[in-house]
Amino acid sequence: MRVIPLLALSGAAMTQQPGVMEKMSAWTSNFGAQIFNAFPYGLDAGASAVAAQVVQPLNMQNWKAHLWPKSPPEEWMVFMTGGNKTCFGRCEHAEATWNKSVAYLSALPKSSSSEPPLRLGSVDCEQNEILCTAWSAGVPAIWHFYPNPSGATDLRIIRFNASSVSTTNMTSVPSKTDSRYLKYTPYEGWLHPIDGSVQKFGLTVPFGYGLWLMGALPSWLMMLVVSFASRQIMNRRMGDTMGGGLGAGPRPAAGGAAPPPAAAPKAASPAGKAGKKKR
Ligand SMILES: *[C@@H]1O[C@H](CO)[C@@H](O)[C@H](O)[C@H]1NC(C)=O
Ligand SMILES: *[C@@H]1O[C@H](CO)[C@@H](O)[C@H](O)[C@H]1NC(C)=O
Ligand SMILES: *[C@@H]1O[C@H](CO)[C@@H](O)[C@H](O)[C@H]1NC(C)=O
Repeated sequence: MRVIPLLALSGAAMTQQPGVMEKMSAWTSNFGAQIFNAFPYGLDAGASAVAAQVVQPLNMQNWKAHLWPKSPPEEWMVFMTGGNKTCFGRCEHAEATWNKSVAYLSALPKSSSSEPPLRLGSVDCEQNEILCTAWSAGVPAIWHFYPNPSGATDLRIIRFNASSVSTTNMTSVPSKTDSRYLKYTPYEGWLHPIDGSVQKFGLTVPFGYGLWLMGALPSWLMMLVVSFASRQIMNRRMGDTMGGGLGAGPRPAAGGAAPPPAAAPKAASPAGKAGKKKR
């Protein structure tokens, strides 16, 4: 907005003073550079085209091929996003911000040969629910993978506020810019995709399916399964103490004091004990 009167002014001045033209063009090119530096620069369509070109979509089949430690090593920034189901439809802003950040990150000068190159990836949790469940991935976030000299993979999880995340929040993460990833605690738990015990035992996929299934089952079915399982366990425990386990489950509330007649003659005192336990 402020540009217009400024331009008009210098336009008027231009006719009188030689050399203003040069100053003008220097100023405009400088201004252009500033626009480029100060995201957002309003080229969303361009940004998504860049994102499509340089961001590796990761899924259950290909993530290992890309993220697994390699020689020469690579630094990875993986954007985790979701849709209506996995992000409550709130990831749109974060996604647009990521697309703009990608345009910026992919324009960074090449790193020296001694530094791991920066690679960009993304996981759409809407389409990769099992993978995201197995990793317990929250969205939106960036997972930053950096190869440690020790051989382990340094993973930091940078969660974002879906409504207020900015390009600076994202572009400052990798080691080529501000290394902001270092401000976060490395994740070393058992769900670490590369070094965690779930992965070491080859259980990522079954674990993901198991958890996903638990989430996908309707809750009444889940209740039924839980109640069935706990009754089984109760029965077994009753069986241990009573020797019979007859009609053990839910009924005894009424008569903790009065043991069932069938069981009474067999083992009166243990039944009494079990009755006390039940309450
Ligand atoms: C971001 O870029 C991807 C890849 O081109 C595109 O599919 C997606 O629609 C873009 N998202 C937004 C919110 O611009
Ligand atoms: C997500 O939800 C919005 C509003 O409920 C709807 O307009 C949109 O089509 C949905 N998107 C997908 C991919 O289902
Ligand atoms: C996310 O950002 C919005 C807007 O700045 C703010 O109102 C909200 O409290 C933030 N949410 C969290 C969880 O920090």
